[in-house]
Amino acid sequence: MKITVVGAGNVGATCADVLAYKEVANQVVLLDIKEGIAEGKALDIWQKAPIDLYDTRTIGATNDYSKTADSDVVVITSGLPRKPGMSRDDLISTNANIVRSVTENVVKHSPNAIIIVVSNPLDVMTYCAHITSKMPRTKVIGMAGILDTARYRAFLAEEINCSPKDIQAVLMGGHGDTMVPLPRYTTVAGIPVTELVAKDKLDAIVNRTINGGGELVKLMGTSAWYAPGSAAAQMVEAIVKDQRRIFPVCMKLEGEYGIDNCYLGVPVVLGKNGVEKIIELKLNDEEKALLEVSRQKVSEVMQALDTMTAAAK
Ligand code: NAI
Ligand code: 2OP
Repeated sequence: MKITVVGAGNVGATCADVLAYKEVANQVVLLDIKEGIAEGKALDIWQKAPIDLYDTRTIGATNDYSKTADSDVVVITSGLPRKPGMSRDDLISTNANIVRSVTENVVKHSPNAIIIVVSNPLDVMTYCAHITSKMPRTKVIGMAGILDTARYRAFLAEEINCSPKDIQAVLMGGHGDTMVPLPRYTTVAGIPVTELVAKDKLDAIVNRTINGGGELVKLMGTSAWYAPGSAAAQMVEAIVKDQRRIFPVCMKLEGEYGIDNCYLGVPVVLGKNGVEKIIELKLNDEEKALLEVSRQKVSEVMQALDTMTAAAK
């Protein structure tokens, strides 16, 4: 198995490190446009192998896609991260140009790869990669839901003072202020979360989750990378090992949840073919209304990208 991670910055390098450490594949190629950075980080990860006892080979490349040829899965993390005061949507035009050219190169050299997009604004960059790739919607998907759900689970574990391993949750919608955490579908070792956490505390946790990315940008002056890198690696692992894990994943909806032609996070079964199945939850009216707000927001940014693309022609 061969995995490529495009973008050897904070998220990309972390993702490559986790993939190597967990021996998800026997080869991980890290590619960046900046001279030497991917080679250096790949070499550093390889030199960690005798200490951490893994045998995954990590290889770096400066914009040389021949080294990525015939990858099974490609993770796209290239693009600018958020700085304080920026929304994810502020990154749209710069990152769309990067994601478009990267996707063209990826498809040229690895026509059968499943593509996982991480670059922001996530839902719209998934749209950009999907239309550029001309591949089926089940094979060009975005990572955000695992990260957002992990933040929600971590906050709940802190509140309940229990292991985060025991918290099961699902979250839907766009990666941003309109994401839709679903307390009704959250359990702690099978116990509905509402039996363990008071409503005002749960509301505060949902709110903190929605603003979870911004909280870290304020603290660090740039966006997060440990949890995002691990989340992307977890998606790769589910695909490579055909685990059929159930994760929230961003993809094009074609009628599911009554939504057409919009890229949103929904729970799916993830396996060797990418998205094996979309799970349609029975949302109540309040949850449907929140998902509709998310759909409107993502559709607006998709249209903004279409307008920019048309103007550039
Ligand atoms: P970073 O700045 O540390 O790394 C980005 C890397 O992309 C840089 O090394 C840069 O040289 C490289 N790059 C730029 N243009 C390129 C091109 N054409 N080809 C190859 N490489 C290129 O940024 P970081 O923190 O790694 O974030 C990467 C992206 O991921 C950002 O857009 C960020 O907003 C997004 N992100 C998304 C998350 C999600 O949940 N979906 C979570 C965290 C970050
Ligand atoms: C995050 O949620 C900025 O999307 C990035 O950390």
